[in-house]
Amino acid sequence: MKNKLEELKKKILEDLSRVKSGELLRELEIKYLGRKGELSNILRAIKDLGAEEKQEIGAIANAIKNDVSVEFERIKKEIGGKEETAGFVDVTIPGKKIACGHLHPITIIQAELEDLFKSMGFMVLDGPELESDYYNFEALNIPKTHPARDMQDTFYIDKKNQNGEYDLLMRTHTSPVQIRAMQKYGAPLRAVIPGRCFRSEATDARHEHTLYQFEGLMIGEDINFSHLKGILELVGKKLFGAETKLRMRPKFYPFVEPGTNGEYTCSLCGGKGCRVCKGSGWLEVIGAGLVHPNVLASGGIDPEKYSGFAFGFGLSRLAQLKYGIDDARLAMSGDLRFLNQF
Ligand code: DAH
Repeated sequence: MKNKLEELKKKILEDLSRVKSGELLRELEIKYLGRKGELSNILRAIKDLGAEEKQEIGAIANAIKNDVSVEFERIKKEIGGKEETAGFVDVTIPGKKIACGHLHPITIIQAELEDLFKSMGFMVLDGPELESDYYNFEALNIPKTHPARDMQDTFYIDKKNQNGEYDLLMRTHTSPVQIRAMQKYGAPLRAVIPGRCFRSEATDARHEHTLYQFEGLMIGEDINFSHLKGILELVGKKLFGAETKLRMRPKFYPFVEPGTNGEYTCSLCGGKGCRVCKGSGWLEVIGAGLVHPNVLASGGIDPEKYSGFAFGFGLSRLAQLKYGIDDARLAMSGDLRFLNQF
């Protein structure tokens, strides 16, 4: 009887594997599982067996019935799905929306600035985010003991160099690429450097530990302050509109001499004074100046022969001002409710 059952199971599964229509499936269901079906007949005959055999054969027969029923159900679903939809297209169903990505607000501003500077013959460069103390500070005229280091405290890497010093850090600004560019390309030189920087900030609405900057460097034989001013005026008009004015006031940065800040008339109130510009009418977004002779020398350029200007924008801050974003932390949050507005 055991053999008979196994054979029957094999036969049923074989028949099922060939089934293509619902009609044939129903026929097979009646043939095997129906009240007078082959499997049912065997199950019924079990009651006449001896007690021991009854138990053994009963268990096998039930297991087979289960397996076969599951297979019937599976094929029923498969065929049913196909038969229902075959040849039927519901043209009234609305189309599926394809989610389309878009640029991040900081990337939009970066691309605008890159376009402007490329049109004036500047190269677009990048540099390492993991920097050495030398490029990030020393070569930019910020020696170990200089108090200017305090303003740019950052994340140091827990690894000593050959001299037993910790000299690897996440760059605090894009300025180290000035030195790398001078060493690689020499003078004359025109380059802009967008990139990600890091600071050990206690984060709040105005401070974020990861920020984007946009650095500029131009070196030639007679480059002076008026070139810098002309370029920064152009940038302001491109970013905030033709009416935008530039104001420059002395500010100390160790890598430039003289050093200056750069402020544009507030794009939101047109210079009248508002919440964003804190009533002043001006937005400070730039640090700039004429490249310090020590910095030119670090880059291998003769300060007697060449001069140049440099500037650095806070890209993250520009994006905040341009789009009226009131919390610096949103830009890096990855929050789609924020990002989908751009
Ligand atoms: N690196 C400066 C900062 O992160 C910004 C800066 C100031 C860049 C003056 C410059 C510059 O190139 O000339 O605060």
